[in-house]
Amino acid sequence: MSRLRAALAKAGYTYDGVAGLLGPTAHAALSRNETTPGLRRTGDGSPLSALTRLWLLQAAVPAAEADRALPGLVEPLVAAGILERSGEQVRALVDVRPYADDEHDWWVLSDLTPGLDGRGQRVGGDHVLGISSASTSLAQLTVRESVDRALDLGTGCGVQALHLAAHAREVVATDVNERALWITRMNAELNDARAGGRPDVREGSLYEPVTGEQFDLIVTNPPFVISPATGEQLVYRDSGLPGDEVVRRVVTGAPEHLRPGGWAQVLANWVIERDRPWDERLREWVEGGGCDAWVVQREVADPAEYVELWLKDAGLHGAPDYAERYDAWVTWFEEQGIEAVGFGWLNLRRTDREPVLRFEEWPYEVEQPLGREVAAWGRRVDLERSLDDAALLATRLFVRSDVRQETFGAPGVEDPERIVLRQQRGLRRARPADTMEAALVGACDGDLTVGAILEALSTLLEWDAGEVQAAYLPVVRELLVEGFLDERA
Ligand SMILES: C[S@@+](CC[C@H](N)C(=O)[O-])C[C@H]1O[C@@H](n2cnc3c(N)ncnc32)[C@H](O)[C@@H]1O
Repeated sequence: MSRLRAALAKAGYTYDGVAGLLGPTAHAALSRNETTPGLRRTGDGSPLSALTRLWLLQAAVPAAEADRALPGLVEPLVAAGILERSGEQVRALVDVRPYADDEHDWWVLSDLTPGLDGRGQRVGGDHVLGISSASTSLAQLTVRESVDRALDLGTGCGVQALHLAAHAREVVATDVNERALWITRMNAELNDARAGGRPDVREGSLYEPVTGEQFDLIVTNPPFVISPATGEQLVYRDSGLPGDEVVRRVVTGAPEHLRPGGWAQVLANWVIERDRPWDERLREWVEGGGCDAWVVQREVADPAEYVELWLKDAGLHGAPDYAERYDAWVTWFEEQGIEAVGFGWLNLRRTDREPVLRFEEWPYEVEQPLGREVAAWGRRVDLERSLDDAALLATRLFVRSDVRQETFGAPGVEDPERIVLRQQRGLRRARPADTMEAALVGACDGDLTVGAILEALSTLLEWDAGEVQAAYLPVVRELLVEGFLDERA
C-alpha cells in the first residue's frame, strides 16, 4: 500500500488535482453520474488522466498507460481484487478516489459507484458505499477536539475512521459487513502516513464488539432506512430491524459507552407517528441516559417520497415489481401509524449534572463544518447551568460578532413591526426579538453586567426593574445557550 500511496501522490491524484484536470463542467457532470465530459478532458495519456479514467470514470485504460501511472503495481492490484486485466485493457473493480477536508488529503477505497451514465443502479447486498452526502454531513458535524479514544460504529469504507485518526489517539472501527472491514483495513493502510494511527477494525453488530469499553467520541451513520425489514437487505442502508429500531438501539446504547464529557454523534432517520409531536418519541430514547442531548430535525419526508427515494437508491425504479414494492412499503407505513420520516442529527454528551435536552427543527441552510458549533453548544450549556440568577446578573456577556438585527415594517415608519436577530455563521439561527431584547443584546459588549444592562433598560423604557428581571433573565439564558450571547467576544 505504501507503493500505491507513492504512485498516487506522484501522479498528483489529489482532490484538487482531479478537480483541476476535469474542470468545473466535467466535475459537476460526474457528480450527476455522467462521465462523457470527464472522458473528453482526460485523453492525454498522463498518469493523472489514466488514474482518473480508471477510478472516477470507470473506463477501461490501456495496460501500458495503467503501468505508467502505477509502475509495478497493476499485477499486485489485480491479485488484490482492486483491478482486473482483460487483454491489453485494465479496469477497476474497487474505487480509489482522492478525498480531502480543509487540513487533510486522503485516498478512499470503496465499491464502485453504481449507475454511471444511466447504467443499472443495482448492487450486491454487501456493497460498501463510498463517500456519500451522509458521510460528509457526519464528518462535518463531528466535534474535532483531540481525544483519547474514538469509535466509528458501522464504518463502511472507513471514511469516519480516517477523520477520527487525525485527532484521536486510538480509533476503533466496527461493522457487520466483512467486505467493509476488508476495505477499511486497506484504507487505513493506504493512508497510514497521513493519519494519526491505524484503526482497530472489529467485526460485530452495534456495540457488541466494544462491550464494556468507553470512548470520548462515538460517531455513526447507521443503516437507518425505515422499512418493514422483510425483503432482501442492502447492508449499507438496511439494518434488518423494523422501523427505526436500529437508531433507537444506537442512541440508547451510547451513554454506557461514553466517558464523562464524551460525545456520541448520530446521523439518522426516525419515525414520526401520526398525531404525535416528532420529538416526543426521541425524548424517550435520551431521557434518563445521563447525557445532554441536542437533536436537530433537518428534513421531513412523507411516506411516498421516502419510499420512492429508497426504491430508486436500490435501482428498483422501473423494475417489474416496482409498483408492488411501493404499495407494500406505504401500506406498512400506514399500518404502523407512520405519518412521515424525520432526518437529522442526534448529539449526546455525557454529563454529571441534570441533563439538558434540546429538540429543534432547523431545515435552513447552515455553515459547515458544524462540529465547532456542537462543541460550543456544550460549553455554553455548561456555563448557563453553572450560573444561578445572582451569578448571571453579575456576569458580563458579549454579543457574538456575526449577529445582525433585521427590522421589518412599512418603508419610512419609525417603529418596526418585527425585529429578528440573525446569526450569519454556524447554525445561522434566527429569533424574533422585542425592543427590550434587541436593546439588551446590543448592549452586551462586555462593559456592563447583565444586571446593570437590565436596570438601565428598565429606566429607559419606564418598566419596573423587578418585572424586567423576571421577564428577561430567562431570555438571557436562551440567548446564551443559542449562542447569540457568550462569555467572550
Ligand atoms: C450508511 S453506512 C455508513 C458508512 C460510513 N460510516 C459513512 O459514514 O459513510 C452504514 C454502515 O453500517 C454497517 N452496518 C449495518 N448493520 C450494522 C450493525 N448491526 N452493526 C454495525 N454496523 C452495521 C453497514 O455495513 C454500513 O457499513
